[in-house]
Amino acid sequence: LHVAVLMGGWANEREVSLMSGKGVADALEIKGHRVTRIDMGRDIAARLAEAAPDVVFNALHGVPGEDGTVQGMMDLMGIPYTHSGLATSVIAIDKELTKHALVPHGVPMPGGRIVRSEDLYEGDPLARPYVLKPVNEGSSVGVAIVTEESNYGNPIRRDARGPWQEFSSLLAEPYIRGRELTTAVLGDRALMVTELVPKSGFYDFDAKYTDGMTEHVCPAKIPPEIEKLCLDYALKAHRLLGCRGTSRSDFRWDDERGEDGLFLLETNTQPGMTPLSLVPEQARHCGIDYADLVEIIIADALT
Ligand code: DAL
Ligand code: MG
Repeated sequence: LHVAVLMGGWANEREVSLMSGKGVADALEIKGHRVTRIDMGRDIAARLAEAAPDVVFNALHGVPGEDGTVQGMMDLMGIPYTHSGLATSVIAIDKELTKHALVPHGVPMPGGRIVRSEDLYEGDPLARPYVLKPVNEGSSVGVAIVTEESNYGNPIRRDARGPWQEFSSLLAEPYIRGRELTTAVLGDRALMVTELVPKSGFYDFDAKYTDGMTEHVCPAKIPPEIEKLCLDYALKAHRLLGCRGTSRSDFRWDDERGEDGLFLLETNTQPGMTPLSLVPEQARHCGIDYADLVEIIIADALT
């Protein structure tokens, strides 16, 4: 096959996407496929038309690439591509829209509200502790946990510097104490649950991509009923959102509250494929090595 691997782009997760793309492209070459590596710029349509691949492996993360824009372009061009399509991507990249799609169908997600960053200086949007996050970024870009001890002030001072600064529209959600869990779906199967135990206590960008900063407990040591709920919710989210190929749903679990303490935070339609990424790790535990995983995702795009 001639596979174009789309990676990079110009948004906040550019470096992560370059790592995903390199992993995917290297694996495809070892498998004997012809690979065109494309670092996405605004000339992407012309470059794809020129490459004329059989299929695109979309290794982009964040906006654009995970948000439907690139998917819509490839739909128009008639090029098959991996992962989710236009409508799914538009909804899943937006953590607030995702709630509208999942919560009415019984998938628990944290309450919360959209705030403008200007509003933060008037007073806390929720009781502390709460989490502030851009509605449509990945890899914990721009996420802040606001606790009583945060030195941003109370209310947040106009001169306080926080990771939310460059985003005008934010999601404020109650902070869920406890544990960080994730479940990959591949095809129509929820693989397993991994617990992430960051040494710093916060699974932020550095904890995600610096080797040794987070312990991955795979499979997670959690009660069977919590494991089952994670698998059920991840598969339900994958189906309700209409995901294709693979997705990964991230959870917080307040272990003092039992089953009522489990919340889905989001479903990622373009989960990372870096050496430290979670979908490849879960697949490996299920006997699917990295290169096979890449080929399974591509096969799904061509059926
Ligand atoms: N946003 C990163 C790539 C992930 O979900 O794995
Ligand atoms: Mg994400």
